[in-house]
Amino acid sequence: MNKFARIIGTGSYLPPMVVTNDDLSKTIDTSDEWITSRTGIKERRRVTDESTCDLAVIAANNALDMAGIAPSELDLIILATTTPDKIFPATATMLQNAIGANCPAFDLQSVCAGFVFALTTAEQYIKTGAANKVLVVGSETLSRIVDWNDRATAILFGDGAGAVVLSGSEETGILHSKLFSDGSYLSSLQVNNTRINETGFIEMAGNEVFKIAVSRLSSLAQDTLTACNMTAEELDWMVPHQANIRIISAVAKRINTPMDKVIVTLDKHGNTSAASIPLALDIAVRDGRIQKGQSLLLEGIGGGFSWGSILAKF
Ligand code: COA
Repeated sequence: MNKFARIIGTGSYLPPMVVTNDDLSKTIDTSDEWITSRTGIKERRRVTDESTCDLAVIAANNALDMAGIAPSELDLIILATTTPDKIFPATATMLQNAIGANCPAFDLQSVCAGFVFALTTAEQYIKTGAANKVLVVGSETLSRIVDWNDRATAILFGDGAGAVVLSGSEETGILHSKLFSDGSYLSSLQVNNTRINETGFIEMAGNEVFKIAVSRLSSLAQDTLTACNMTAEELDWMVPHQANIRIISAVAKRINTPMDKVIVTLDKHGNTSAASIPLALDIAVRDGRIQKGQSLLLEGIGGGFSWGSILAKF
């Protein structure tokens, strides 16, 4: 049995092709001003021929390097993705093979809450002693399921990957996690295919999603602090799912957290679904904002709806 699961390495990767708001306004009826003011997004990345696995491999290797862990030392790989490369096998097994690991590997699908679900699952493996070193990756090629003619969704989403290595530890790590799902919201946010092997695109009731995201995430953030006997002042960083700056700032305001304690990276990559939290985390770790020993509140919501939070000491 391990006392805690602790993050010992982070990594991320964005594919090189940049699509700016101005680029989008050449093909759909929108503008940089509209997108920036309604979402905070300035640009997103789009894969050309890279797969979800390709992005995951680079993010994973970066996290393993920071952790100082060889792939052969991993006990488990969990890949959170909404855009697996194939119906089967799990993209996680392709990732396992590509990085040269020799451990069980599975995909976890919980859309934009995927990383929080995967990290919580990994924590359970570590705390029971079933695993000691776990690689958790969020990787997405959402551009493959975006209708680039639909201005309601095309402006929001992007491709990318983020990863963490978790280790069993006596030192404080993840302190609390909580997950929720409510499948009655299917039609609010879904991919509109009718058969599993038929191409579909993201369709979304944007306003409804916005309101539910703010209300669910702010009460969850408050409950998470309360469960850890913490005040908002004691929190060092919020690392939220990077969907919309207005959702992020509304949640921060409701829990009395100033925006200078919130990691925001969505201007550079848009909503990368399961990749967005580990991407934001890695960027802020590598630029020196997030320091060892600081407290982090991770939270995300996505299609389903599914949502969840994690409070951890880094
Ligand atoms: N460019 C310009 N105008 C646009 C537009 C775009 N890309 N998309 C919509 N509009 C128009 C609408 O047609 C509407 O016009 P009308 O007033 O003439 O009817 C107007 O802008 C307002 O549309 P509305 O949908 O009410 O805007 P909004 O303020 O709710 O912003 C979203 C739309 C999608 C940005 C916002 O609802 C949102 O971010 N929701 C959450 C989405 C999300 O995060 N999903 C993922 C969750 S994991």
